[in-house]
Amino acid sequence: MERLQKVIARAGIASRRKAEDLIKEGRVKVNGKVVTELGVKVSPSDKVEVNEIPLEKEVPVYFLLYKPRGVISSVSDEKGRKVVTDFFPAIKERIFPVGRLDYDTSGLLLLTNDGEFANLLMHPKNEIEKVYVAKVKGIPLRENLKKLEKGIRLEDGKTAPAKVKLLSTDKKKQTSIVEIIIHEGKNRQVRRMFEAIGHEVLKLKRERYGFLTLTGLKAGEARELTTHEMKQIRALALDVSKRRKNS
Ligand code: URA
Repeated sequence: MERLQKVIARAGIASRRKAEDLIKEGRVKVNGKVVTELGVKVSPSDKVEVNEIPLEKEVPVYFLLYKPRGVISSVSDEKGRKVVTDFFPAIKERIFPVGRLDYDTSGLLLLTNDGEFANLLMHPKNEIEKVYVAKVKGIPLRENLKKLEKGIRLEDGKTAPAKVKLLSTDKKKQTSIVEIIIHEGKNRQVRRMFEAIGHEVLKLKRERYGFLTLTGLKAGEARELTTHEMKQIRALALDVSKRRKNS
């Protein structure tokens, strides 16, 4: 027996939280009866319907995309702009991005139809190490980079400690390349962190997510995660969450 919202999430309809909303809104039926409570458990023999449509169990799939700049981290865009799922024309499963990268940010983005997996990775407690390389305006002072390392106050709270490394500077052009490693996923976090120390981000790329990198991929290319990678990244998220709980 499994919780209804988990079953809906695994079927690729929505994330677990969205599935909970669907249940509360009375859009889910179990064996022909509307269920609005969140605690209900179902077995594989129960017939689950969302919006009157029976759940079809999709095989879970996991992809790693090298997102180019100028692409929305979404499955559709009302303004008709390119979205990340456009890079998977042959995939029939309803995949969606795990978190998001800004329109102008390039780099590593995971996509899946496994709502459970996505939820686990996106949960604030489980935030996995993410490595970004930023090209910024100006040449940051060591003391300002230290502020980013310690945590800096943004309008939605203080950022957690980060690792920051000045990789290179161009004195003529007055730009710098900085690597920054963070665990959280606040909206436009890296851009806002640099803005807070007076340096506009001109270019941003996510180079690593946990142990996953972009090796072998060009912008716009994707590959499937191996089962081992998928299990390892899930274990990493669970492990981080356990360590945080115990600390
Ligand atoms: N931080 C940002 O500012 N943008 C991203 O896309 C990711 C992290």
